[in-house]
Amino acid sequence: MSVLSGKRILLGVSGGIAAYKTASLVRLFIKVGAHVQVIMTPASKDFVTPLTLSTLSKNPVYSTFFNQDDEDEKWNNHVELGLWADLMIIAPATANTLSKMANGTCDNLLIATYLSAKCPVYFAPAMDLDMYKHPSTIASFTALEQFGNTIIPAESGELASGLSGEGRMAEPENIITFLEADLESKLPLKGKKILITAGPTYEAIDPVRFIGNHSSGKMGFDIAKSAANLGASVILVTGPTHLTVNHSLINVVKVTSAQEMYDACHQYFNAVDVAIAAAAVADYRPKNIAEQKIKKNTDNFVIELEKTKDILLSLGEAKKQQFLIGFALETENEIENAKAKIQKKNLDLIVLNSLQDEGAGFQKMTNKVTFIDKDFKIEPMELKSKEAVADDILNKVIAHFYE
Ligand code: CTP
Repeated sequence: MSVLSGKRILLGVSGGIAAYKTASLVRLFIKVGAHVQVIMTPASKDFVTPLTLSTLSKNPVYSTFFNQDDEDEKWNNHVELGLWADLMIIAPATANTLSKMANGTCDNLLIATYLSAKCPVYFAPAMDLDMYKHPSTIASFTALEQFGNTIIPAESGELASGLSGEGRMAEPENIITFLEADLESKLPLKGKKILITAGPTYEAIDPVRFIGNHSSGKMGFDIAKSAANLGASVILVTGPTHLTVNHSLINVVKVTSAQEMYDACHQYFNAVDVAIAAAAVADYRPKNIAEQKIKKNTDNFVIELEKTKDILLSLGEAKKQQFLIGFALETENEIENAKAKIQKKNLDLIVLNSLQDEGAGFQKMTNKVTFIDKDFKIEPMELKSKEAVADDILNKVIAHFYE
């Protein structure tokens, strides 16, 4: 999945011949799952039509402060547009528009929106080779970079003037690659390795039967996705679940039993920075697994169980640099029991689920958790989607590295 997926992108188009390429650019943004709104300078409409960009972006295109077509929406609010965006890109950025951006010459909607935008701003210059090298243009680049804007350098090749050299707007595919690489390099968990356990474990009774539990695995999968979207490399050790995930940063390791999950976790634990145990691991397993299917020959049938290894406890014992997060599922004396688990399992943070809270627990789309850290600071959270709980957990991880 692209790091641009779900991002709100504001594309500012200024008036150069390369504006025709913005049709492809918008199409590529939509293809990777971004939301796009387009602002055009009046001059750019000579090179590509608003209808084209509106159709491709699936949104109205803005170019003036006043909207002649819509009685209800007379005023195109540049502040709202600026605040809507996760990132703004001016492409093509002509010498004229770059100079206005550098000097705050606010004579069109694009520049007003640029001045209102609080998000990261990128610009992809497009002009003739001598204009590109002119000290005045270089001064605009320098000023914009000092403002914190990022240049997507022009490429070399044949120019509209017939000359050949540097000044062509970067190709739309290259703009996408540039943005993805730049955003990925700035993700807060870039370079961090995170081990996550998820799902139930199945403990075999005989070749066809097992002891299991109702865990869907959703909480662990959501944590894995949230971590990967923040740039972490994830090893997701999961028990049997119908869930799947397709993310280049998530390596899924499928296991069945508690012992297999234990072995997989210890294989990776030494090399990770963070471990999050969200699996509902069986606490007991049949002492003997029948080699053949058990026949119903008796009225009563007793299975002798033995304890499984507590994976989280063993990770707490092996812990060195790792930030270790566990879950606690409690039905009574929740806080006290959770605090005891923090100490016993040598955790940095525990995520407490109380089954007394409505909306929390297995097979639900929501969760209501309380965070308790190793200093016993207690932080109750609202009932929210498991995705949002996953984001909260990852915010704790980010805080650990940066605060
Ligand atoms: N856990 C684990 N291995 C086990 C049992 C639990 O790694 N064999 C982990 C879970 O993934 C969870 C945490 O330990 O992060 C707490 O699980 P929980 O079921 O609440 O508690 P237990 O430690 O099993 O204790 P009890 O069932 O007695 O409350």
